[in-house]
Amino acid sequence: MQENSWVPLFPEQASTFAWQVDWLYFYMLAVSTIVGIGIVVAIIFFFVKYREKEKYATGAEIHGSIGLETTWSIIPFIFAMTVFVGGAYVFYNQTRPPADTTEIYVVGKQWMWKFQHGSGQREINELHVPVGRNIKLTMTTEDVLHDVYIPAFRTKMDVIPGRYTTLWFNATKPGKYHLYCAEYCGLNHSGMGGWIYVMEQRDFDNWLSGNVSGQTPVQAGQDLFQNKLGCASCHEGGASQRGAKLEGIYGKEVKLTNGQTVIADDEYIRNSILNPSGQIVEGYQPIMPTFKGQVTEEQLLSLVAYIKSLSGNANQMNTGSTTSTSGSTTTNNANTTGTIPPRADRGDSNSAGSNPNAPPNRSEPTNQQQR
Ligand code: CUA
Repeated sequence: MQENSWVPLFPEQASTFAWQVDWLYFYMLAVSTIVGIGIVVAIIFFFVKYREKEKYATGAEIHGSIGLETTWSIIPFIFAMTVFVGGAYVFYNQTRPPADTTEIYVVGKQWMWKFQHGSGQREINELHVPVGRNIKLTMTTEDVLHDVYIPAFRTKMDVIPGRYTTLWFNATKPGKYHLYCAEYCGLNHSGMGGWIYVMEQRDFDNWLSGNVSGQTPVQAGQDLFQNKLGCASCHEGGASQRGAKLEGIYGKEVKLTNGQTVIADDEYIRNSILNPSGQIVEGYQPIMPTFKGQVTEEQLLSLVAYIKSLSGNANQMNTGSTTSTSGSTTTNNANTTGTIPPRADRGDSNSAGSNPNAPPNRSEPTNQQQR
């Protein structure tokens, strides 16, 4: 069903920024071709014109030419700057998600992609999304580096152990599009792929309602927080509260005991669970135990979603805000002071391949009810 685009051998253009990437690409290809051909033609022309006609002839002395030198400086400058401006435009467009996005959580592992929608539905190696909506993927991995690559959308982003990265797109036409892993990740890397199903909103709503959706990430996070992990015993409860207050912190600056200020974004929350003593909020003791090894990446995403919801970001369908949700790329633009606060401290949980958070003997989630 995936027909070719207007260029043979190219994947279809199926996202709002696909044409931008293609135009930039073909512009650079055209410039390179014209310049390359020009050079070869000039070589051949001079080769013939200035061939040796007379033995031991002396060449004419040349003392520069302002006109010529200006021309061969300005024309390449214009080419270089147009490529730069075009590239910057595409880059900013792709790395800054718009304000109103539907957030979907992605966890990569050798060798599959796991997706979870804000309403709770889980998918493996398949992702259903509505057409014409801004979709933001918040992504991490349980083991090694992977990379989400959707050629028809002309977008890709690394998925990195111990961090959250984001990728956004707005699909322009219904269809079925290839999803690849674009980072060599071991034996079955080439098989680590799947399909993105872009559906009309009506069909997507039907699909959503037809799927059993266990707990939403927020509900799952609340369950972990209040029951399974017992976070609530310190982080809730008024006067006896020993842990930092979490209501309303998401996206805000928090002051640390060492005087630093950081933005409480997804990654800060994640690191505070795995490496609590790394960045202690001012006024609190370093008494929180680490939860490293006790929570999976998916549970961490749920906890982050729940803590976000305490700040009024409960609706996963509209988590967009002016705040950063990814400390990893260029979206760290949440601060109002104009200075860039230090990054969240990842502790030692980001060593590639160490699989720090995967507890042993865990069954894979399915599309069905999980626990
Ligand atoms: Cu995952 Cu290559």
